[in-house]
Amino acid sequence: MKLLKGEILKNEKYGENLYKMEIFSPYICRNAGAGQFISIKCSKEKIFDPILRRPFSIYDIEKEFNVFSILYLVKGRGTYSLSLLKKGEIVDFIGPLGNPITFNKNSNDYLLIGGGIGIAPLYLVAKVLTREKKNILFIAGFKNSDFAGIEKDLIKNKVYYNIFTEDGSYGNSGLATDFIKENINKYKKYQFYCCGPVDMLKVLQEIFLGKKISATAIVEQRMACGIGACMSCAIGIKNEDGEIVYKRVCKDGPSFNIMEVIFD
Ligand code: FES
Repeated sequence: MKLLKGEILKNEKYGENLYKMEIFSPYICRNAGAGQFISIKCSKEKIFDPILRRPFSIYDIEKEFNVFSILYLVKGRGTYSLSLLKKGEIVDFIGPLGNPITFNKNSNDYLLIGGGIGIAPLYLVAKVLTREKKNILFIAGFKNSDFAGIEKDLIKNKVYYNIFTEDGSYGNSGLATDFIKENINKYKKYQFYCCGPVDMLKVLQEIFLGKKISATAIVEQRMACGIGACMSCAIGIKNEDGEIVYKRVCKDGPSFNIMEVIFD
């Protein structure tokens, strides 16, 4: 992990309030893996508003070009400032943060379930596994068609996917979690990776309960320091003895066994 600066190569609008930013960084491309994130200073140089850096999952790594990217939704002042940045400007960030996912080499079948902006870390998971010739299915669920822009990336990397929208304006109509519920027996032997809103992860916990499914949640959490020093990102994890211990999403995660996470 290092404090870094990188040139923005692209800051492309991908949908309503959705952007993909490509950043030149040989260091991140050499050292980061799927599931990790960076923490960006969203204010301009010598301006400290907003004062805290913002965490963003690494969406893609293109090692051959020394370029990585983040996918982000404009939600507040920090992300609004990011959306205004142009090609050639420099961003200040720390990374890679968190732990990369270690895949079970013996498994061939993977089901990825992303909800909303939770698809961001899963896209890189999908790309890595697809390149390793694993059998994957990427299920993505959104409220509406605002995320349609990501489809071109899935197609480019030959990821096998299925998109659901709640309002039926794009892809299949309905909830991604309903699809999982209806088809869970078919995919029981798959390795699951999930990321999305807490409500979605809670529904998945209910679906997986008692089924001996191997499922990892990449947890999204508000963060302050991003490096394990402040405990602002702590979540409860139920250990093997049934005791609740607190883990830092930024330092101990962000990936956890979904069945052990206590979602408030
Ligand atoms: Fe400070 Fe995780 S954000 S410990």
